[in-house]
Amino acid sequence: MSRLQVAVLASHNGSNLRALHRAALAADALFTVALVISNNSGSGALAFAREAEIPALHLSTRTHPDPDALDEAMCSALSTHSVDLVVTAGYMKKLGPRVRSHYASRIINIHPALLPRHGGKGMYGRAVHESVLATGDKISGPTVHILTDAYDSGPIIARREVPVLPDDTPDTLASRVLAAEHELLPEVVQRIAGRREMRPGLPTS
Ligand code: GRF
Repeated sequence: MSRLQVAVLASHNGSNLRALHRAALAADALFTVALVISNNSGSGALAFAREAEIPALHLSTRTHPDPDALDEAMCSALSTHSVDLVVTAGYMKKLGPRVRSHYASRIINIHPALLPRHGGKGMYGRAVHESVLATGDKISGPTVHILTDAYDSGPIIARREVPVLPDDTPDTLASRVLAAEHELLPEVVQRIAGRREMRPGLPTS
């Protein structure tokens, strides 16, 4: 079976991209990181992609001021690279309607808390971990879910629990959760890649 072609969309550091790419280099990997897209020309994600020789594009309102044109450019890049699955990992922009309708349930997102807790508008980065600590939760951890129009509320695919320690700060908790993300996301993508229905070009049985 050919490898699932995965696009990773990221706005900043790109550590999840690196974890996915590392996993994709394993002999038994069922997927390839085929394309990286960032809205931030100075992102670590784009720098890594270029260094690793993964096709990489900066697409943003700076390159495409018209939202329709941006949506179209993204759709066409995904199609040029025969992308089967879109992974948003720290991607800070909403996807356009063309990309959303074309990929529908083939867009997944990683969130750094156990959804449905600590999700929704404004819940990203440090705010998520501050919220976990403020509510006194004893466990946290990443969630991978299908991206839908409403923030952080699409169907949950997988979660990974990590402890919240009594002396945690938002930063120490964030780094423990991030380490779990780097395991969970490649595992989920590998699992999805093993499902034939994810390959629109291939028969499902
Ligand atoms: C991760 O914590 C992810 O859960 C969230 O944004 C962060 C991205 O980190 N959506 P990185 O850019 O992959 O290092």
